[in-house]
Amino acid sequence: MKKVLTYGTFDLFHIGHLKILERAKSLGDYLVVGVSTDEFNALKNKKCALPYWQRIEIVRAIRFVDKAIPETNWEQKIADIKENGIDIFVMGDDWVGRFDFLKPHCKVVYLPRTPDISSTGIKTGLAADKDNFSRADRLPSPSFLPW
Ligand code: CTP
Repeated sequence: MKKVLTYGTFDLFHIGHLKILERAKSLGDYLVVGVSTDEFNALKNKKCALPYWQRIEIVRAIRFVDKAIPETNWEQKIADIKENGIDIFVMGDDWVGRFDFLKPHCKVVYLPRTPDISSTGIKTGLAADKDNFSRADRLPSPSFLPW
């Protein structure tokens, strides 16, 4: 069984996130995803709209994902690769070259990003057009929801 590992913040889960997880899974049989914790994001000066527990629950529910683990620091990757028997490490090409140091431990693959979408871009768009985006009457009514 070929095992694949990737990491991310996955704030405001969007189509770019879905597509990288789909393509990462297609490289093997089992996909492990590290989701950055709120504390780790704070260290990176990154502020999320959604808390860690929601972000990891959403990632875990994606059908391409077999296991989701916390990413708490920059140094854990080699230990995660060994612990999970990883064959391929995958990141988007915004990280190209940055993880080549993992090559003695597994194959390292950088996949092209889905164009024109990012969590930051969504947040910026919402902030710029908040009158339109925040209108409660644009949300589906509760009766639309099946639970
Ligand atoms: N990703 C992608 N295509 C996008 C956005 C993200 O393939 N359009 C990939 C990244 O390359 C990374 C993973 O999704 O491997 C998680 O990225 P993350 O940083 O959580 O998403 P971004 O939308 O880039 O978030 P931010 O704007 O906060 O940097």
